[in-house]
Amino acid sequence: MVTALITAEQLYPKVANVIPAVEWATMEDDVNAILRLKKERNAVILGHNYMTPEIFHGVSDIVGDSLALAREAARVDADVIVLAGVHFMAETAKLLNPGKTVLIPDLRSGCSLAESITAEDVRELRRLHPGVPVVTYVNTSAAVKAESDICCTSGNAVHVIESLGVPKVIMIPDRFLAANIARQTGVEVITHPGACEVHERFTPNDIIQMRLDYPGVTVLAHPECPPEVVDEADYAGSTAQMIKFVADQRPAKVALITECSMSDNVAQEYPELDFVRPCNLCPHMKRNTLAKIRHALETMTNEVTVDPEIADRARLAVERMLAVGAPPK
Ligand code: 13P
Ligand code: SF4
Repeated sequence: MVTALITAEQLYPKVANVIPAVEWATMEDDVNAILRLKKERNAVILGHNYMTPEIFHGVSDIVGDSLALAREAARVDADVIVLAGVHFMAETAKLLNPGKTVLIPDLRSGCSLAESITAEDVRELRRLHPGVPVVTYVNTSAAVKAESDICCTSGNAVHVIESLGVPKVIMIPDRFLAANIARQTGVEVITHPGACEVHERFTPNDIIQMRLDYPGVTVLAHPECPPEVVDEADYAGSTAQMIKFVADQRPAKVALITECSMSDNVAQEYPELDFVRPCNLCPHMKRNTLAKIRHALETMTNEVTVDPEIADRARLAVERMLAVGAPPK
């Protein structure tokens, strides 16, 4: 039986709380083309939580944080994966699916953390700290992962480090994530001077002022924020953990100290909650647009590949992380 394709018009209720109808009308042509192309190419779209709502709620098949996208990438049953996110995420999907075609809407979608460190930097850290395991944040290139013992994400970093049962780790490349995680594990952490250009800009004063302007607000921060910012927040967690917090606790007034699209995507689901919106945009994530997703699928361009020798070593570090399993709820 041939099933009819869902149309952009039918999808509108999924975004109606955050995208006005007149704006959605300008997107319908691209959305319909993407829905058709996904079927023709046997493609799935993996969308990070920082995608704009038309991508996140409109055309993505699987959405989540870096951990969920890595897990799902290991399971997808499709010929083509479009990674609506940034380059390191597409590389991770490719590592886990060497036989599949992985496309990214814009090849320039980088990440300040991934760009902060090279494979040679990791080798130098190992020379300086012989025998200390290297725990690498997934926000890195495949070449850096290839030099690592195990990967982690912000959603499982504590769990991954505790699974090693060692007194000291090298945790790269985000110095703020490393400092935040060190405080939760009691493990000595050696790090690298990388930072996320979005989260490093938040200050404790942003939160102090927010509490004055919006009394009663519940503040959730991403652990890529400096520890002084996390100290001012009510909760810190990965993007998926923040979404879960909102779903479970339903705070009447909430601020998500992270990338701007998070609030839009969560507000669509919980229109009764008041989202306080000082936020920072990630210029790399924002390179993703419907037009670029459509173009990548139409032309099958912007393929992400990884050198097979690097891929084999990097895959081990990612697979070791996935084998550690989900952190306790
Ligand atoms: P999450 O793993 O929390 O989704 O974070 C990814 C990221 O790039 C945050 O800046
Ligand atoms: Fe990288 Fe920060 Fe953008 Fe995430 S938000 S992709 S860590 S620059």
